[in-house]
Amino acid sequence: MAGVATTLPRFLSEEVAEDPYSFYARLRTESPVHYDADLGCYLLSRHADVGAAYKDPRFSTRNYEVHLEPVFGRSLLQMDGIEHSRKRALVTPYFRGKGLAAWEPVIARNIAAILDRSVGSATGLLAGRFRAGDTVDLLAEFGYYLPVYVITDMLGLPHSDYDRFLAWYSAHVAFLGNLARDPDIDAAGRAATSELWDYLTPVIAERRRAPGEDLISALVVAEVDGEQLGDAEIKTHVTQLLNAGSETTGKALAGLFAHLLADRELYEEVRDDRDLVVPAISETLRYTPPSQMNGRMTTVDVDVDGVTIPAGSLVMLLMASANRDERRFAHADRFDPRRTDLDHVKAFSATGEHFAFGWGRHFCLGAMLARGELLQAASVLLDRFPEMRLADAVPPRWAGLKMRSVEALRVTL
Ligand code: HEM
Repeated sequence: MAGVATTLPRFLSEEVAEDPYSFYARLRTESPVHYDADLGCYLLSRHADVGAAYKDPRFSTRNYEVHLEPVFGRSLLQMDGIEHSRKRALVTPYFRGKGLAAWEPVIARNIAAILDRSVGSATGLLAGRFRAGDTVDLLAEFGYYLPVYVITDMLGLPHSDYDRFLAWYSAHVAFLGNLARDPDIDAAGRAATSELWDYLTPVIAERRRAPGEDLISALVVAEVDGEQLGDAEIKTHVTQLLNAGSETTGKALAGLFAHLLADRELYEEVRDDRDLVVPAISETLRYTPPSQMNGRMTTVDVDVDGVTIPAGSLVMLLMASANRDERRFAHADRFDPRRTDLDHVKAFSATGEHFAFGWGRHFCLGAMLARGELLQAASVLLDRFPEMRLADAVPPRWAGLKMRSVEALRVTL
């Protein structure tokens, strides 16, 4: 099999888990189209190849039949053509333009509520407000809450069920990242769907009786080709929305502050020059994308860099690697919000600058919502806690392969 370099470590090895970026750098030079026998999967690592694959319908999303459908149902990610455009169009008005702007105050309210601990939760975590001088885990105590509260407001679901949403989507994210196909993770993901879908049954019935302004109501009243969506399809949409933006956005926020606080001068520069906040966010997404890879399946034989990938092969588009490709970005291994080779405006739309949000037809629906959440959250945190610093002498640990982030971000506010 062409493209196999025997000295490269296995993808699912301790070595790669510890430091995937060194492995990816080797892949880009030594084996840009690499077959990993353990996973039975081709790895694409260069920016040009990953970008081309996202835009090429021969790299289909049929892989999601196995990797997602058991827990999401048949979601947008699996659709293509007119079906995809029509179904995506049902929710896009809420994620761009005026529809998106309407959520700005909701984001602001939720940030304040989390920092002031005036939102409900059964975990007991929400005891005492965030005050300067306190030590908190910015990921678990802030980052994970914000996107869940925002999307549950959009869906018209109560914050008091946060713990359940968190448990369900965590099980789903683990299912999606279960590259080694651990049966316990598989079973937990399926069980979470069954609980979430039971939870949604009476909610959808209620919205059918009395639709409101929320996204579930929009799906309930929507018509595609003169037909309304069935409960299962609405549940799939809701499951996807609840999942797609939650862990990703929380991890991106923690990543942003981990990078800034690792360099006191940079933290102060961004704090004092707010024009740098958006560049720091898009650079975080380039440098350490929370979702590090997307799967695809070839529909026919495809040649990439002289290697033939047979029809029906599973292919991993390694966004984390493409985003560090030195052929595309100067000093790609350095976090640099001032870099001039990344367009910080285009980085949140489907232009293929970096691939943290994917590219092509399935480009992230929530990229601009995520931008809004990250920008507002970073601005408020910088305002309220100008002297924030890392709480521990040892730097935070990064972990995960499919999803990767700091495990925790202990900061003194
Ligand atoms: C920093 C935060 C986020 C990151 C890094 C991210 C990443 C991604 C990526 C990589 C994809 C493409 C998957 C593929 O092509 O296989 C995607 C798709 C998607 N994302 Fe996001 N996402 C984020 C936030 C959000 C938010 C806030 C929402 C909505 C609440 C959302 C909803 C979606 C949906 C619905 C899709 C599927 C689009 C389609 O198939 O047409 N995402 N996201």
